[in-house]
Amino acid sequence: MLMLVIFGVLLHEVPLSGQDEAPPEEAVGEPLHDYAGIRLPEEHIPFFLHNNRHIATLCRKDSRCPFKKHLENLKYCWGYEKSCKPGYRFGYPVCNYVDMGWTDTLESAQDIFWRQADFGYAGERLEEVHELCQPEQTGDSGLLCSRYLQYCRATNLYLDLRHIKRNHDRFKEDFFQSGEIGGHCKLDVHTLMSEGQRKSPLQSWFAELQSYTQLNFRPIEDGKCDIVIEKPTYFMKFDAGVNMYHHFCDFLNLYITQHVNNSFSTDVYIVMWDTDGKIRVTILARSTEYRKILNQNELVNALKTVSVFEVRIVDYKYKELGFLDQLRITHNTDIFIGMHGAGLTHLLFLPDWAAVFELYNCEDERCYLDLARLRGVHYVTWRKRNKVFPQDKGHHPTLGEHPKFTNYSFDVEEFMYLVLQAADHVSQHPKWPFKKKHDEL
Ligand SMILES: *[C@@H]1O[C@H](CO)[C@@H](O)[C@H](O)[C@H]1NC(C)=O
Ligand SMILES: *[C@@H]1O[C@H](CO)[C@@H](O)[C@H](O)[C@H]1NC(C)=O
Repeated sequence: MLMLVIFGVLLHEVPLSGQDEAPPEEAVGEPLHDYAGIRLPEEHIPFFLHNNRHIATLCRKDSRCPFKKHLENLKYCWGYEKSCKPGYRFGYPVCNYVDMGWTDTLESAQDIFWRQADFGYAGERLEEVHELCQPEQTGDSGLLCSRYLQYCRATNLYLDLRHIKRNHDRFKEDFFQSGEIGGHCKLDVHTLMSEGQRKSPLQSWFAELQSYTQLNFRPIEDGKCDIVIEKPTYFMKFDAGVNMYHHFCDFLNLYITQHVNNSFSTDVYIVMWDTDGKIRVTILARSTEYRKILNQNELVNALKTVSVFEVRIVDYKYKELGFLDQLRITHNTDIFIGMHGAGLTHLLFLPDWAAVFELYNCEDERCYLDLARLRGVHYVTWRKRNKVFPQDKGHHPTLGEHPKFTNYSFDVEEFMYLVLQAADHVSQHPKWPFKKKHDEL
């Protein structure tokens, strides 16, 4: 079962400036609010404005506000707002039958539906929200959560990912140690620790937040962060990330979270929380006239069906991707796949446990095999001649037919077989950081 398990992080708090002060009258140019950032269906706008009176106030004063016509309907509400009158609710369930196993009156049946499957659910979460880490000065961090840490909002959240350990759990429970997640604020440790009853990957953030630490430094001001992410961010644990059907409950949870947080911008990051040690596969595409992988999409789609693979396609053109960035990608690759060509020289910069897969050596057998041997990384290449399909016999500018001067497609099954072998090499390698220390019984 999947519960509400999303938490919004804002690493840099945007002050709600000008919320109540009178804005400069009709400034030329900019509208007084980013109305376009409110990504809601037109008919939901009155409900949004009900719950965001400061935006309604700005809208009234702003000739550029596209929501003027809704300002007359501000009584409408979703149903979870304190100010919401039942008659103006977006909706309320109507039952004409009572399942005696659950309850005994129509009213209570409706009420249960409302609280468990309608906006009443958001209302209950909102009522539960309490402060766990209290900011004491502007610029401090903060942590607010609903009960059992099902929904949390963190501001100026500090994450130290330098020493984290991954394994094959999608949701590793001791992912953070004390001091690796936290903020500069006054932490109520006692209350935090009392929220653990629903500790389980898809039901709460307790496993991650039990290590939340009150820091004695200010992460941003004291220069403790090498990366500061200012865009509002949702962390989600996905039930299953494979297809729309299994994803549906995730979309619903995200939508509920937008309501609980009262924010409907789509200019956000959504981070899929996953502590599994993925095998990073990089395919080196070529933008030359020869040795193109004709069915590259097909191969990539096949790779993507393997959940442990994180697949990336790159084209190392230095004018578009600087050399340092190229190195960064190569060095963060576990299986590097490419056609015979100078680009494979990148294998020199792979990590020690990596494998390079020269998809096809075009009958030049030693070149990258030797280079891989000299570097000490594992080398794989295509073996079955009857499963690689050249586009034609090739066109060398002076020599005529030549296997390096044409394009190729590859048998998908054979391709996957070879990649999975390379993956075995990686995951068995003693230096691979996510290697299990002991075989689990
Ligand atoms: C959650 O709400 C706060 C306060 O309105 C907002 O600043 C933040 O951007 C929202 N978070 C997300 C992820 O949208
Ligand atoms: C290989 O593919 C490229 C790009 O699609 C094309 O320009 C070239 O003519 C192809 N080569 C052959 C031999 O068909």
